[in-house]
Amino acid sequence: MKALVYTQYGPPEVLQLKEVPKPEPRDDQVLVKVQAASINALDYRRFEKLSSMGRIMEKVLFKSTNKVLGADIAGRVEAVGANVRQFQPGDEVFGVATGSIGGFAEYACASEDRLALKPSNLSFEAAAAVPVAALTALQGLRDKGQIQAGQKVLINGASGGVGTFAVQIAKAFETEVTAVCSTRNLDMARSDIPPGKWTTS
Ligand SMILES: NC(=O)c1ccc[n+]([C@@H]2O[C@H](COP(=O)([O-])OP(=O)(O)OC[C@H]3O[C@@H](n4cnc5c(N)ncnc54)[C@H](OP(=O)(O)O)[C@@H]3O)[C@@H](O)[C@H]2O)c1
Repeated sequence: MKALVYTQYGPPEVLQLKEVPKPEPRDDQVLVKVQAASINALDYRRFEKLSSMGRIMEKVLFKSTNKVLGADIAGRVEAVGANVRQFQPGDEVFGVATGSIGGFAEYACASEDRLALKPSNLSFEAAAAVPVAALTALQGLRDKGQIQAGQKVLINGASGGVGTFAVQIAKAFETEVTAVCSTRNLDMARSDIPPGKWTTS
């Protein structure tokens, strides 16, 4: 299969389109035919900005052999491992790729618990933009922040990858949201909150 491979650190130009072996799902994994993948800060920091120590740790401690980036994916289930119960071939899914091949490829594997069924009204492209950034916002607000209905919530960086999801999640928890972003992004931040329910600064 084809994949965008990196064999050296540097700017995006170092990525090369190459032929690589199709990944095999482990027993707890799902093989996804990738329809869309999004670029996360996680990806570009990995090969662009790792410090010398970070590169050594990646190679020596974590024995990373992953030369295909791409955490966020959306696609169709191609095959499932022996222990997978929630998905079957043909299902439309989105989530976080795991294993040695990331999502910038024709196929990627993901653990069953890192995938969800894609809502039919969501395109593959839109779904692929969701996973890591939205999970980060959800973990911050719900798991760490213990968000409760009726609270007043301040979202700093409301126009960013994480912030846009944080605003919508806080809204879904029925809180009073104050969104902070640059003036040029006010309309976008406001569009994530019902009229009359927002304060922006
Ligand atoms: N994206 C992810 O999946 C992810 C996952 C884990 C952790 N994180 C971390 O979460 C943080 C946000 O990431 P992100 O992906 O959402 O970044 P991003 O898309 O670049 O968004 C950055 C946000 O911060 C605002 N901002 C930038 N400079 C600012 C300043 N000087 N004062 C006030 N606000 C400022 C921007 O507002 P304006 O553009 O409107 O000015 C924008 O809303 C980062 O620390 C990142 O490492 C991100």
